[in-house]
Order: sequence, then C-alpha cells, then structure tokens
Amino acid sequence: MSGRFTGRVAFVTGGARGIGKGVALRFAEEGAKVAIIDVDEVTLSATVEDFREKGYSVYSQVADVAEADQVQGAVEQTVQTFGSIDVLVNNAGVTKDNLLFKMTDEDWEDVMGVHLRGAFNAARAVQKYMVDQKYGRIINISSTSALGNRGQTNYSAAKAGLQGFTKTLAIELGKYNITTNCIAPGFIETDMTRDTAKRIGITFEEMVQGSIKNIPVGRIGAPADIANAAAFFADEKSSFVNGQVLYVAGGPTV
Ligand SMILES: NC(=O)c1ccc[n+]([C@@H]2O[C@H](COP(=O)([O-])OP(=O)(O)OC[C@H]3O[C@@H](n4cnc5c(N)ncnc54)[C@H](O)[C@@H]3O)[C@@H](O)[C@H]2O)c1
Repeated sequence: MSGRFTGRVAFVTGGARGIGKGVALRFAEEGAKVAIIDVDEVTLSATVEDFREKGYSVYSQVADVAEADQVQGAVEQTVQTFGSIDVLVNNAGVTKDNLLFKMTDEDWEDVMGVHLRGAFNAARAVQKYMVDQKYGRIINISSTSALGNRGQTNYSAAKAGLQGFTKTLAIELGKYNITTNCIAPGFIETDMTRDTAKRIGITFEEMVQGSIKNIPVGRIGAPADIANAAAFFADEKSSFVNGQVLYVAGGPTV
C-alpha cells in the first residue's frame, strides 16, 4: 500500500484501543509501518491481529510508558525491526479523578507518571534516532482538561504540562527538522469516556446528551477526528508547524 506515509515508521503509545488505535490505523492506512506499545496485553494482541488482517505492518510490545527502560527497549526493537522511527505519538493515558480533598498520592503519581514521565521517556528515547536522521514528528496528546476540569487536578496539570513540554521540545529539536506539536481533544467516544460515565453513575448516552449542548458542531468526537489532526502534524509538508497546540473539540475553547 502506498500513501502519504509510505516509508515512514510511526510509534504510538497506548495504541491498543481508543484514540491511539485510531491514530495508528490512520498512519497504517496511509502507508506507514506502525509500532504500538501498551500495558494491556490482551487488547494489544487483538489490535495487532486486526492490523495484520488488514495487511498492515505492525510491531507491538507490552510496555509501560512510565518505565524508562521498557520504553527504551521498545524503541530500540522498533528501530531494529523497521529501520527508523519517524513519528512519535505520546498518547497513552489514564484518569484517576477525584476532588482535591479526596485525591490520593497514588492518584497524583499515577497520572503524572503515565502522561508526563511517559511522554518524557518516549521523546528522550526516540530523539537520538530522529536527530541522527534529521527528521522527526512528535505529537503529544493533551486535552481540553488542560484548561481546568473539576475533579481532575492531576490530569489537568499533566495535560497542561504536556503543552509546555511540547513547546520546549519544539525549540530544542526544531533545528534537526523535528517538529513537536500537541493535540488537545475534547469529548471523544472511547473506553476512557465510557468508564467515566460508569464511574459517575450515568449512562454514556446521558453523558453525551449533557455534553453536546455545549459542543458547537452538535456531536461528540471519534478517534478518527484526532487521527486527522495527527496526520496533519505528521505530514512531511507540515515542517513549518512547530510547537503548536490544536484543540480538536468541535468548537472554540475558552
Ligand atoms: N477520550 C477522550 O475524550 C479524551 C479527551 C482528551 C484527551 N484524551 C487523551 O487521549 C489519550 C487516549 O485516550 P483514550 O480515550 O483513547 O483512552 P483509552 O483508555 O481508551 O486508551 C488509552 C490506552 O492507553 C493505554 N495505557 C494506559 N496506561 C499506559 C501505560 N502506562 N503505558 C502504556 N499504555 C498505557 C491503555 O491500556 C489504553 O489502551 C489519553 O492520553 C487521554 O488522556 C482523551
């Protein structure tokens, strides 16, 4: 299959399901070889199976982004398998929501570990290869929660942190023809948002109806909506787009 990303290798963290899977699929559809790491072994194998049935080249590794050695190992294996890493998508994420007075140290550390340390671990591991080849596209997945969201002090701090991380990487790595950009999704239909509905004791449909009143396009998003934005940032032609945060939320954000 040939396409915009033919000859490119995309490394997607947390790509077993949801947004990460949608992004990996989009890169594969447009010709890229994809490497997916995830902590969920069962879902990861099902996704790999799905990609292979579609005829896509995929490398997978069970790895926790919060663990530097696991990320480093998966990055090295990907380069050995496919020859390079051209695109990194820092997508792996968890929520551990609670109002501040109920939030535990563990809730805080877990969320910081996956989103912030995870993105740091992966960016640090891939930069060597990207610098050597003088080409790279790093895409960090933030959230509209970076602007503040009740019950998410940990998550919103991590997602806002990723925006600062993006801008600094853009400054440091730009001269190597490596761009770093950030996508901040609004409400996207995935297991993560389905679990949130369950946790707060409403149906997913009730959560959707409550939300779309405030979404100008009148619908919630799908992983493919985020994949579109990722494909734009990953495009070779987007080489002058660097250090940006794109809110993909069906409307302007305040
Ligand atoms: N769904 C939304 O509405 C929404 C909105 C804004 C931002 N986001 C962000 O988008 C990203 C993807 O979210 P999603 O909705 O697809 O969630 P999801 O829970 O459906 O998928 C997340 C994936 O990351 C994996 N993962 C979790 N911890 C990991 C770790 N330590 N190492 C490796 N993999 C790990 C999970 O196993 C899962 O496969 C997350 O960063 C999330 O914060 C989601």
